[in-house]
Amino acid sequence: MSEIVGRAGGPRDLGQLAEDSAALQADVDGARWLRRHMAAGAAIVSTVTNGGFRATTVNTCISTSLDPPQFLVSIERDSQMEDWLLQSAVFGISVLPWSEQFAADQFAGFTPLASSTFRGIDYFTSVTGAPLLTRCLAWADCRLVQNVLTGDHRCFVGEAVGLGRGQGDPAQPLVTYVSRYRSLH
Ligand SMILES: Cc1cc2nc3c(=O)[nH]c(=O)nc-3n(C[C@H](O)[C@H](O)[C@H](O)COP(=O)(O)O)c2cc1C
Repeated sequence: MSEIVGRAGGPRDLGQLAEDSAALQADVDGARWLRRHMAAGAAIVSTVTNGGFRATTVNTCISTSLDPPQFLVSIERDSQMEDWLLQSAVFGISVLPWSEQFAADQFAGFTPLASSTFRGIDYFTSVTGAPLLTRCLAWADCRLVQNVLTGDHRCFVGEAVGLGRGQGDPAQPLVTYVSRYRSLH
């Protein structure tokens, strides 16, 4: 992986990793530490409600079933996104390329948030009406089939009713690792 340029949290010295691992505790800090060391792709989870479009940045998106195609995202409990997903029962997943760091920051609330009309954002809709980012790497349009509370998060499992490629460069996914955005080059 190359040196990091984006932001997904505070700066971090990779040389400290070995020291930190010696101090791991099975508590919230330990869990956070471990989670940071799970390299993961970044995606935007989006939905459509009576109030318009809603979206947040995640790195907890995984494929849980191929037949039927199902995907899981883990969303912080008692967050607005949890409410919106429970209300709408549909969600879009836009897997991000390296070039979409600004979108990742925007939907994480680090920069001015997108409006509920997604003004200024290139997007399209497929079957459910959830907005999907035009310049994503890949997208899935899902109907909620299951949700499970797991501690301080709720896992949403959706079945894809549409999926496809976006305009993003598939050679350059946006990866999160140790609180930073990274590329594979
Ligand atoms: C790279 C990255 C990955 C994230 N992954 C998740 C996630 O998987 N689940 C989640 O609930 N929030 C995740 N967040 C946090 C949300 O995007 C958002 O910042 C948080 O819900 C705060 O929203 P608020 O503006 O409602 O306070 C992630 C943020 C970043 C930058």
